[in-house]
Amino acid sequence: MSATSSSGRITVQDIARMHADGQRIPMLTAYDYPTARILDDAGIPMLLVGDSLGEVMLGYESTVRVSMDEMLHHVKAVVRGTQRALVVGDMPFLSYEQPDQAVENAGRFLREAGAQAVKVEGGVRTSRAIETVVRAGIPVMGHIGWTPQAKLGMGRVRVQGRTRDAAQRLLSDAIAVQAAGAFAIVLELVPEQLAAAITARLRIPTIGIGAGAGCSGQVQVVTDLLGLGSFVPRHARPYAHLRETIAEAARAYAADVTAGTFPGEAESSRMDESVLAEALGQGELDRPSPDTLRIPLDRDL
Ligand code: KIV
Repeated sequence: MSATSSSGRITVQDIARMHADGQRIPMLTAYDYPTARILDDAGIPMLLVGDSLGEVMLGYESTVRVSMDEMLHHVKAVVRGTQRALVVGDMPFLSYEQPDQAVENAGRFLREAGAQAVKVEGGVRTSRAIETVVRAGIPVMGHIGWTPQAKLGMGRVRVQGRTRDAAQRLLSDAIAVQAAGAFAIVLELVPEQLAAAITARLRIPTIGIGAGAGCSGQVQVVTDLLGLGSFVPRHARPYAHLRETIAEAARAYAADVTAGTFPGEAESSRMDESVLAEALGQGELDRPSPDTLRIPLDRDL
């Protein structure tokens, strides 16, 4: 990436330029300040504060439970952790049903949380809301294929667009999202040939997740990439195994605390013994015996 806005942040125009230059666009989800800093320093140009937040960070059983306030809270943290990445806030379930409501809530992502764009699920169905938000000056990323907020209506998680009618519907959805003014579109769980055909028919970049290598870019849920979750979806590739790393670190720490080897000299500080003796009002410093430190148990009282 070379071209960025004067603020140093990547803009939707930069993303369009990357796409026009034939560069594939890497995108990751982020939900918190320290991870956002690392991903930003690593040069990831677009970070999505996805409503997958609900499932992977907040322990909800579905993204449908995530509220505007929860999304804004996490977008703020990711914005604070980044200097270059374009931050996209995911509009949660029922936050963009009516165009006016969509503008109001999309505006909150930019004004209150500092995001540079929002993402909206749905194709033809939500194209009016997308158009209204774009007209208000807010960059929008679309999202079609498997759309987690529609889980209750769509049934179990599965690849979308495998039949002739479903494939045509997806193509119409993609064209509607582009016509509504979106700057990019996520294709989730779409057969790779269909995703490549949609990509070839659009001017805007497609960002795939479980949609093959023929998309203009890829997005992954960061906990899948890092091997943090208990389950890795088939379309994800863990590039690290942090679940085991964290568990190992926690076990080693607990063992050291139990054995009395943490903290050691390196992690402790000392003071002048004579000052301590003065502070305690003693001529000579008596080390407390383990017995004097023992917390009395019920049976001792
Ligand atoms: O919420 C999310 O993380 C998403 C991505 C999977 C695209 O929508």
